[in-house]
Amino acid sequence: MNKKFYITTPIYYPSGKFHIGHCYTTIIADAIARFKRQEGYDVCFQTGTDEHGQKIENKAKEVGVSPKEYVDEIVQNAKDLWEKLDISYDKFIRTTDDIHEKAVQKIFVRLYEKGDIYKGEYKGLYCTPCESFWTSTQVVDGKCPDCGREVHEVTEEAYFLRLSKYQDQLVEYIESHPEFIQPESRKNEMINNFIKPGLEDLCVSRTSFTWGIQVPFDKKHVVYVWLDALTNYITSLGYLSNDDSEFKNYWPADLHLVGKEIVRFHTIVWPIMLMALELPLPKQVFGHGWLVVNGEKISKSLGNYRDPREYIEKYGLDAIRYFVLREVPFGNDGSFSEDSLVARINSDLANNLGNLVQRTISMGNKYFSRSISNKSVIDTMDKDFLNSINHLYSEVEERMNRLHISEALESIFEMLRRANKYIDETTPWILAKDEDKKQRLETVIYNLLESIRICAILLQSFLPTTTQKILGQINNERIESYFIEDNHYQLSTPSPLFQRIEN
Ligand code: MSP
Repeated sequence: MNKKFYITTPIYYPSGKFHIGHCYTTIIADAIARFKRQEGYDVCFQTGTDEHGQKIENKAKEVGVSPKEYVDEIVQNAKDLWEKLDISYDKFIRTTDDIHEKAVQKIFVRLYEKGDIYKGEYKGLYCTPCESFWTSTQVVDGKCPDCGREVHEVTEEAYFLRLSKYQDQLVEYIESHPEFIQPESRKNEMINNFIKPGLEDLCVSRTSFTWGIQVPFDKKHVVYVWLDALTNYITSLGYLSNDDSEFKNYWPADLHLVGKEIVRFHTIVWPIMLMALELPLPKQVFGHGWLVVNGEKISKSLGNYRDPREYIEKYGLDAIRYFVLREVPFGNDGSFSEDSLVARINSDLANNLGNLVQRTISMGNKYFSRSISNKSVIDTMDKDFLNSINHLYSEVEERMNRLHISEALESIFEMLRRANKYIDETTPWILAKDEDKKQRLETVIYNLLESIRICAILLQSFLPTTTQKILGQINNERIESYFIEDNHYQLSTPSPLFQRIEN
């Protein structure tokens, strides 16, 4: 059986001001992709940029460059940020890529010829910053329900996608595939608030600006930016191109990871487009919550924006990765503040993880001149400890499969706490005073090193840099995630993994 795993993030609006909230989706996707690779899956992890639309056209005009020049520079900024965050993406799609633009045109023509796209007249309310159309019942006091900014009325000739035709088929699909929309609460919201009240056909072309993909048979129209953007998940794999081997291999996607405000596009518009194209639907769309500051979504327009690179420089990459993965219960909103970041660094990373590694290696170096093997002098107090080590992998895997990432990390850090407690229980410094207990002492340190090795292996997807350091300090190449009877450790000099941060 081909164990493939295709995971995507949304494609980002190119902006000079990516914030830690944007990094959130990408860091989660990166951790999942790494975990799946470690499990032996053939992973395709895709991200990219969503570069068309009126907003970009206006911005470029403001600074006096062409839209393409404008986005080219900013896309570099995105790539630079993902590099700083050590994001292990396999594919980066730009909606200005030739392969994408050509495929979008072919898709548009195909749906038009099939009658699923038709020409009509659009009258309605449009929010330019969000590139979203709203009905009068959706707007709140004349403002966009998503961002709270002014919407304005537009009337124009336009093409429409027949969402209404597929409404019953979509409900049937969602109800018979409980894993399709996750978490469960988002599924109920989509069905009850959006689909069941009745789907209106969606306006999928614009004539009031030109920065977009042209409708090939009616050149004054450009394709609506969401229709253009959503197809990235298949155009990047070569759908409708000369070489669609990746498409055949990876589609349908296993997981579209998206923020909660764009679940609507991914679970209504996108599946209907796929149904119209007679393609299989993604296995899961997971809508995660937001990182908030003082209860508000982080966003450049709200002014609570800080460049994530500042935090990386100040606290280190793995601390940032750990914080966003651990602090936010997946699916819910989570609060970001430097105080809670520092608290996590001190308690979990410096204390729990850092101290355990440092203490264990120091003892190994002091009592056994760096070389440790298993002497198998087992005490009853070891049973529970070794048992926890052997259960860890299946627990973490089960939590990762449900995308309960924070809980998966909690399992590993619980194991580290257990290992610290094991030091207190076995009191190696007392054993060291008695020559007859030497073999028992070596067994204790061996057990600790096994727990450190296994935790480091399981933490690799989350803390790639730190775990490399740990594995380097214990010089061990074994990758089994369970207790090994006949392993051997040749220790290096320990160096602190995380410094405690004093106020
Ligand atoms: N371009 C669209 C996506 C098209 S996908 C076919 C878009 N781009 S975005 O740049 O605005 O957002 C990208 C992702 O960042 C979204 O998943 C969004 O939810 C996420 N986040 C933006 N701010 C966020 C927080 N404050 N917290 C968590 N995630 C947030 O939407």
